[in-house]
Amino acid sequence: MSRIAADVMTAQVIQKPDCVLGLATGSSPIGAYKQLVKRCEEGRLDFSEVRTVNLDEYKGLAGDNVQSYRYFMNTNLFDHVNIDKTCTNVPNGLAKDTKAECRRYDELIQNLGGIDLQLLGIGRNGHIGFNEPEDAFEKGTHVVALTESTIEANSRLFADPQEVPRFALTMGIKPIMQAHRVLLIANGENKADAIHKALFGPVTPQVPASILQLHPDLVVVADKAALAACDQELDLAGRGSVKI
Ligand code: GLP
Repeated sequence: MSRIAADVMTAQVIQKPDCVLGLATGSSPIGAYKQLVKRCEEGRLDFSEVRTVNLDEYKGLAGDNVQSYRYFMNTNLFDHVNIDKTCTNVPNGLAKDTKAECRRYDELIQNLGGIDLQLLGIGRNGHIGFNEPEDAFEKGTHVVALTESTIEANSRLFADPQEVPRFALTMGIKPIMQAHRVLLIANGENKADAIHKALFGPVTPQVPASILQLHPDLVVVADKAALAACDQELDLAGRGSVKI
C-alpha cells in the first residue's frame, strides 16, 4: 500500500515539481512517507519546489509538542527531504483567534492555487482530516469537537488517554473536493466498514469520506483487510489488486 501510494505521489512531484501536496497524518501514511524519504535520499525525488498543506492540527498543541501534527510531519517527512520548511503548512493549533486562523488557512490554500494531490487516511467512523460525521458537510477550515470514537482511536498514541485534545482545526471538504486528484489510503480490518460505507454507501455527511464518490479523480489504495466488506462489489476473489 505504502509503495503504491508513494508511487502516485512521486509521479505527481515529477510531473509538476512545484506542485501543492495536501498531506495527512495518522499511522496510515507513515510507510508512504518512508518511501518518499528513501527516494529523496537516493536522489530520485526532488522536493525543493514542492509546497504542502496539511489537513489538520490539534487545538492547543504547539508545533514542538510531540503529539502535534506539525511535529509528526517534521519527524516523518519534512526533516528528511529537501523541502523548504517555509513552504510547508499546518494549521496553527495555538492560534488565540481560531476563526481568524481558519480564514487564514483557507486563504492560504486559495493563494497556493488549490491542491494538486490530496492524500487522505480514513477514520473508523469515516472521517477525513478531522471532518467528523455531521448533519452537513463543512466547506471551509473549521474547529471541530472530536467524537468519542476518534478520541478513543487516537488515544493509543498518547501515554494518558486524558491527554488527547478534545478539539482540532481541520481543512473543510471544499479544498479536498477541489484537489485535482485525491489519494485515499487504508489498511487493516478496522477500516473495512468505513471503506465500504465511503465507497459504496449513500453520500452523506454522516460518513464524511462518502463525498469522495463524487470526486472525478479518486485513487483508492487499500489492502485486502480494509476492502473485506467490499467483496461483493469488487469481486476480489483471486485478484491481487483492483481498479475502482
Ligand atoms: C486522525 C487524522 C486523520 C487520519 C485518521 C486515521 O484522526 N486526523 O487524518 O486519517 O486519524 O488515522 P490512522 O491512519 O492512524 O488510522
